[in-house]
Amino acid sequence: MDRVSNLPEELLCHILSFLTTKEAALTSVLSKRWRNLFVFGPNLDLDDSEFLYPQEGKRERDGVLESFMEFVDRVLKLQGTSTINKVSLKCRTGVDANRVDRWIYNALARGVSDLDLRIVLGDRYRLHRRGFESRKLVKLKIGGSGIVLGWWNGAVDLPMLKTLVLESVEFCADCKLKMLLPACPALENLEMDNVKGLDHSNETVSSASLKTLIIKSSLVSSGTFSFDTPSLVYLGYSDFVPEDYPLVNLQNLSEARINISLTDDQVERARFPNEYDDEYDDAVRLVNMAKLMSGIRNVQTLYFNSTTLEVLSLCCESMPVFNNLKVLAFYSGESRWEAVPVLLKNCPHLETLCITGLLHLVTETCGDVCDCIPREDKGRSITSCPVKNIEIEGFIGTTKEITMISHFMEYFPCLEEILITVEENSPAQFDVPAEATDFRAQMLELYYKSLSCNVEIFGCESLLRKLSAQ
Ligand SMILES: *[C@@H]1O[C@H](CO)[C@@H](O)[C@H](O)[C@H]1NC(C)=O
Ligand SMILES: *[C@@H]1O[C@H](CO)[C@@H](O)[C@H](O)[C@H]1NC(C)=O
Ligand SMILES: *[C@@H]1O[C@H](CO)[C@@H](O)[C@H](O)[C@H]1NC(C)=O
Ligand SMILES: *[C@@H]1O[C@H](CO)[C@@H](O)[C@H](O)[C@H]1NC(C)=O
Repeated sequence: MDRVSNLPEELLCHILSFLTTKEAALTSVLSKRWRNLFVFGPNLDLDDSEFLYPQEGKRERDGVLESFMEFVDRVLKLQGTSTINKVSLKCRTGVDANRVDRWIYNALARGVSDLDLRIVLGDRYRLHRRGFESRKLVKLKIGGSGIVLGWWNGAVDLPMLKTLVLESVEFCADCKLKMLLPACPALENLEMDNVKGLDHSNETVSSASLKTLIIKSSLVSSGTFSFDTPSLVYLGYSDFVPEDYPLVNLQNLSEARINISLTDDQVERARFPNEYDDEYDDAVRLVNMAKLMSGIRNVQTLYFNSTTLEVLSLCCESMPVFNNLKVLAFYSGESRWEAVPVLLKNCPHLETLCITGLLHLVTETCGDVCDCIPREDKGRSITSCPVKNIEIEGFIGTTKEITMISHFMEYFPCLEEILITVEENSPAQFDVPAEATDFRAQMLELYYKSLSCNVEIFGCESLLRKLSAQ
């Protein structure tokens, strides 16, 4: 201990800054010199769960929450008006909301640059707007649940804010994104996860500075959604399809990851498009995905899950040309493949195609990318596709997959490499030994075929090894 104690004060403060405030406070029992040192670290990590851990139920015991609140009050009092860098505050039901407001205000008033709030104070805790005119705040995370935000009707000014993360918060009735974003003119990263209260309104993410945008789950269910973010480079989007996308200004986007959610009605609609023709059906909006696709047509990398692929089946006629697209990746799941040939035709510079799960729903109009049903123009869409690398993940070892890989080798004219990754937990295949022998023969055939067409297949050996082990 002595050797540590002899270190210079700044270094000790630096070391202490890696501990939570409670842990740092414990060091203060070690010696007199340590006693108040932790108080002057640049970071404050206040977590009420540290006061109950490890004993379950301790939280409810009289006085525990009170002692947490007193501890925080005491630390803040000792710190006075000294400047502070980072404050993280985690607290849950039972902690007094007025005191929480005061602590947050204290941090903002002392010029905190990174404020991380995870607050669960029962239903509808309204975050107080006092102090949110900070010229120092660079990173703000507000998470928890039941937090209501309604304070930016002109009262908030965050000129330095670069990163804003909103998690499980609710916008109050007359509060809109278009009021929040102008208050953050330097914002570069925005993440909204499970944000509520924006239904029934027409929302626009409008920001000239925004570079990355991540939206997860149910932002807008009825109402429209627009992107006016010309500098955006990365979009991660998981949500239901809104009524419309009136504006999609994403000209600089380089990467998009899109996971569309569907209601049960919409799944039916996507599966059996010909059985629906009334224009007022809620599911009709799915074709608006074409507007989103058109808005992101400059991307270089595009990922989506199988639900999105299914929705794109409905937008084949209006699919844009993706002139810059180099990497296309999708989960196949049990989706229809109508959109796959259209996508491949419309990506004239595609280099890499990644498919997780080759098996898909076989339909009458099954795309000519696959070999599912006999058709005259078999393979036509892929004979003009310049893809060099194909990565197949989640290979489970069926004859159908081998047939498809063989089909790819035959029709993609520039193919050089196929990388196969076997699904770790694939369902038990080859119950009958004869089937395994058959499969083995087909794999070998594929392997020899690859030699003659200059396609290198990675993963064959591990497959064969797996088979021998059975
Ligand atoms: C949203 O925009 C649509 C037109 O696109 C309009 O009919 C509707 O009234 C708007 N809704 C709200 C709440 O402003
Ligand atoms: C788009 O990206 C280019 C190249 O990175 C950059 O020069 C340009 O300023 C960007 N445009 C916008 C509107 O951000
Ligand atoms: C989309 O879903 C995939 C798996 O289905 C997941 O790995 C990925 O993180 C999701 N992306 C977004 C932006 O939510
Ligand atoms: C695709 O992602 C969305 C959004 O996360 C999700 O609701 C949907 O279930 C995903 N599809 C599949 C097949 O996992």
